[in-house]
Amino acid sequence: MFPSDPLQAPLWTVLASLTHARRMLEVGCGHGYTAAVMASAGGPDCHVDTIEGDPHHAELAEQAFLQRGLSRRIRVLRGRGQSVLPKLKGRYDVVFLDCDWREYPSYIPHLRRLTRPRSIIVTANLNPLFGGWGGRLPGKPAIQSYLTRLVRDPHFRTYVVPGEWHSISVRV
Ligand SMILES: C[S@@+](CC[C@H](N)C(=O)[O-])C[C@H]1O[C@@H](n2cnc3c(N)ncnc32)[C@H](O)[C@@H]1O
Repeated sequence: MFPSDPLQAPLWTVLASLTHARRMLEVGCGHGYTAAVMASAGGPDCHVDTIEGDPHHAELAEQAFLQRGLSRRIRVLRGRGQSVLPKLKGRYDVVFLDCDWREYPSYIPHLRRLTRPRSIIVTANLNPLFGGWGGRLPGKPAIQSYLTRLVRDPHFRTYVVPGEWHSISVRV
């Protein structure tokens, strides 16, 4: 389980300010590091939903949120993104995908449904496509298909950060 680099923490403050975030969504909670950063960035009126497929990770994340006094603002949704996303309702201001990239293409209709104009979507784990530590990992076609569809989708404008592991999309 690899939490995001702490150097990326200010990204969530920027995005929360830019979108006046009240609802944020993460797929791939891990032990809860980024969900906690997102909740802190959004402030006391912001709610974070975070999806986690591994029950042990979900448990550890919930314990961490309890210890940090964030339990009322972060909800851990157990299950894989593919099964949980169809059950979600309403719009999120910021979405972070940080899970098994082979599911990413199936998320696109939900990204449209669960965002509003000017919502921001950050997609992590693009390394299998671009090389780096993930160069030999499986799933390149899935990432390629996801990015191609996202870039061509008239509902989004997408920037793939050069030399990096993530893309940033804005819903239009
Ligand atoms: C890189 S870690 C997440 C780190 C976390 N986002 C952070 O920055 O602190 C990936 C997590 O996603 C979970 N995961 C992987 N594929 C998933 C999926 N399809 N649905 C839900 N969770 C998934 C893994 O169990 C793991 O805990």
